[in-house]
Amino acid sequence: MHEHKEEIKEERPFTAAVITLSDKGARGERVDESGPAAAQMLQDAGYEILETLILPDEPELLKTELIRLADEVQADLVVTSGGTGFSLRDQTPEATLAVADRNAPGIAEYIRMRSMQLTNRAMLSRGASVIRKGTLIVNLPGSPKAVRESLEFILDSLDHGLKILRGSASECARQ
Ligand code: MTE
Repeated sequence: MHEHKEEIKEERPFTAAVITLSDKGARGERVDESGPAAAQMLQDAGYEILETLILPDEPELLKTELIRLADEVQADLVVTSGGTGFSLRDQTPEATLAVADRNAPGIAEYIRMRSMQLTNRAMLSRGASVIRKGTLIVNLPGSPKAVRESLEFILDSLDHGLKILRGSASECARQ
């Protein structure tokens, strides 16, 4: 019985939601290419995309959506794009950390580490990666290019982390 349950859990594709943070995007003054780029890459990697949202750079709105996606929708993964820089309205990491149960800094560290091999400006992204309940939340920078680059770096390894988070893998395979 127990094993059967585990099997079903493992077969279910991971679910994901994508949130773009952009004042102009939310006002309809800019076409959002970053959200669709993230959604496409996640879908190609086997994720079921539950929602794609565009929000203005308002931390309270982002917190509300992150809490809803983690606690009610119970998405396995939420990816945000934008609002990680130095502009005063860039508050994505603060909203993300405010709803976190646990920090998972390695993902954000790795994105910055690899991205800095492409552009020194990667050091200007303050993106965080955290866990709330059973949901992993990863902040990516705002440009479609940065989104593609960053996701490419982490997608392979996310799989194992998400399996452990939902309890369908408990041990890291020895390499
Ligand atoms: N990371 C990657 N991989 N590629 C990029 O082009 N751009 C950087 C950085 N990270 C970039 C990147 C730049 S120019 C900025 S200002 C910061 O992300 C913050 O972006 P954001 O404010 O759109 O979130």
